[in-house]
Amino acid sequence: MKLILENIEKNYGEKQVLKKASCSFEKGKIYGLLGRNGAGKTTLFNCISGDAQYESGNIKLVEDGQEQVIDYSKVGYVFSEPVLPEFLTGYEFLKFYIDINKDKIKNPLKIEEYFDLIKIDEQDRYRLIKGYSHGMKNKIQMVCFLITRPSVILLDEPLTSFDVVVALEIKNLLKKIKSEHIIIFSTHILQLATDLCDEIVVLNSGTLEELNSEILKSPGFEEKVMEILKEGGDV
Ligand SMILES: Nc1ncnc2c1ncn2[C@@H]1O[C@H](COP(=O)(O)OP(=O)(O)O)[C@@H](O)[C@H]1O
Ligand SMILES: [Mg+2]
Repeated sequence: MKLILENIEKNYGEKQVLKKASCSFEKGKIYGLLGRNGAGKTTLFNCISGDAQYESGNIKLVEDGQEQVIDYSKVGYVFSEPVLPEFLTGYEFLKFYIDINKDKIKNPLKIEEYFDLIKIDEQDRYRLIKGYSHGMKNKIQMVCFLITRPSVILLDEPLTSFDVVVALEIKNLLKKIKSEHIIIFSTHILQLATDLCDEIVVLNSGTLEELNSEILKSPGFEEKVMEILKEGGDV
């Protein structure tokens, strides 16, 4: 399975955010999309998920040797600002989510088991989402894709809001499921990208550049990335 972005152009009025951005992403790897604030990471994710229209270019998914324009229902998206119904408890929400997606879910677990996976304590499961911390809300969003298992999983700056323990839990979770998915997570923090990712793609001046994985392990790596990010720093 492969996600292919070809020459994506996206403007907001006069501002060109993506300028023929191209890249391909394979199943089984975690990709770090690294870019400064305002580089266009969220915009790119919105294009992949179908939440934003783009001017030109193609977004395709290759599955079982078949190349097709992406079907947005195959994309799971964890927003940096979680959007959840605050008037439901975590438990009620998961029950609802499982119910509306039941046709898509293969081998569902019990609701309790999903909570165990993301390590949300028993007493918290029956509290209103309104009172959840940012990290807990992110976890709830993440469990949604553990339930429906979309081919492509996008995480927009997810780990930034987590404490160290939760970040580690989530990292381990992503590593556990990565063989079945294309996982891309965006961050402006180099350390997070190097910690978790198999590949790093830099978004800079509206274009995407995949870094050679050899460079990732080389000693001068951080300086090199800093240089790349600085060069395009018009924001
Ligand atoms: N809805 C919008 N309308 C106008 N400009 C936008 C909109 N969304 C993002 N932008 C602009 O596009 C650029 C990229 O933003 P964004 O994709 O949010 O960057 P990042 O996620 O990398 O921080 C920024 O200059 C931002 O101001
Ligand atoms: Mg963003």
